[in-house]
Amino acid sequence: MSNITETRTLAPDEDGLRQAAALLSDGALVAFPTETVYGLGADARNDTSVAQIFHAKGRPHFNPLIIHVPDLDRAETFAVFHPDARALAQAFWPGPLTLVLPQRANAGLSPLVTAGLDSVAVRVPEHPVAQGVLQAFGGPVAAPSANPSGRISPTRAQHVLDGLSGKIAAVVDGGACAVGVESTILGFDETGPVLLRPGGLPVEAIAACLGKPVAARAEGADISAPGQLTSHYAPRVGMRLNIAKPHHDALWLGFGPDCEGATLNLSLGGDLVEAAANLFHHLRALDAQARPDQVIEVAPVPEHGLGLAINDRLQRAAAPRD
Ligand code: TXA
Ligand code: MG
Repeated sequence: MSNITETRTLAPDEDGLRQAAALLSDGALVAFPTETVYGLGADARNDTSVAQIFHAKGRPHFNPLIIHVPDLDRAETFAVFHPDARALAQAFWPGPLTLVLPQRANAGLSPLVTAGLDSVAVRVPEHPVAQGVLQAFGGPVAAPSANPSGRISPTRAQHVLDGLSGKIAAVVDGGACAVGVESTILGFDETGPVLLRPGGLPVEAIAACLGKPVAARAEGADISAPGQLTSHYAPRVGMRLNIAKPHHDALWLGFGPDCEGATLNLSLGGDLVEAAANLFHHLRALDAQARPDQVIEVAPVPEHGLGLAINDRLQRAAAPRD
């Protein structure tokens, strides 16, 4: 929460893990070590907590986050595994491999975790402290690296404090991370496995396990083919941004107290964290109720704090498409 003044350092023992889990259940942000880098964790089902991740990191974009779970069984409750995905999970989990898979209907994840996409990135970390936090908490934990946006990833608790002290509830100190680079991210398209981000697990090991080549694709690259790797969420109907006076036939997504008559409001009080938490819920709700020819108009959202990330997403969602 934004009113945190002191970030607690928790020991990696039973009491520390219990406190970390209790804080996560309360919706607070807790950093913890994985074998790759320290992650900044939040309850992946809690919209406000996930919005706080972006707020604490000062991220100007809502890129989708990885959810962390303790084992394959738990992962299968959130994502749909096909045979290749299951073979990789069995071979390399727990470990530095993240799989991007179709999200299960009613998975219960905040849409902010997946940036509104129908896919979800899942990882089972090996680090005993990460395992301990996940087991004590019991739910899915969204966790990007625990550093301010644009800075290098932390591999020690002190690095986390250097960047985020005062902005997060706690860090569990589990010493230095062994791998030191982020997990390898693998997706799948119609032709097979696609490398989305090189990382701690060599791509050769993935190819050897599957007995087939892994296609290369740079992280964040636009994927034009239809399917699960679509790079960003966009509603079915058209959108117009920065509309203070909506056309009478439009659905109007408001922001702040001056949007009387808005169909929905991202935050009546003009709170950007609340607006971020509501963003994908409201876009989906408006898209579901819109007639095909109807347009979603969005009130101006200020260009500061999480407003930058909200506007970035709105611009992508409103961009012309094929
Ligand atoms: O090692 C790691 O993976 C660390 C530790 C903390 O687990 N976590 C990490 O998370 O690096 P993060 O949030 O920095 O990486 C998220 C990246 C996104 O930038 C995107 O490339 C990819 O994961 N990603 C997540 N969900 C995706 C999705 N549904 N489709 C495509 N790519 C996705
Ligand atoms: Mg990072």
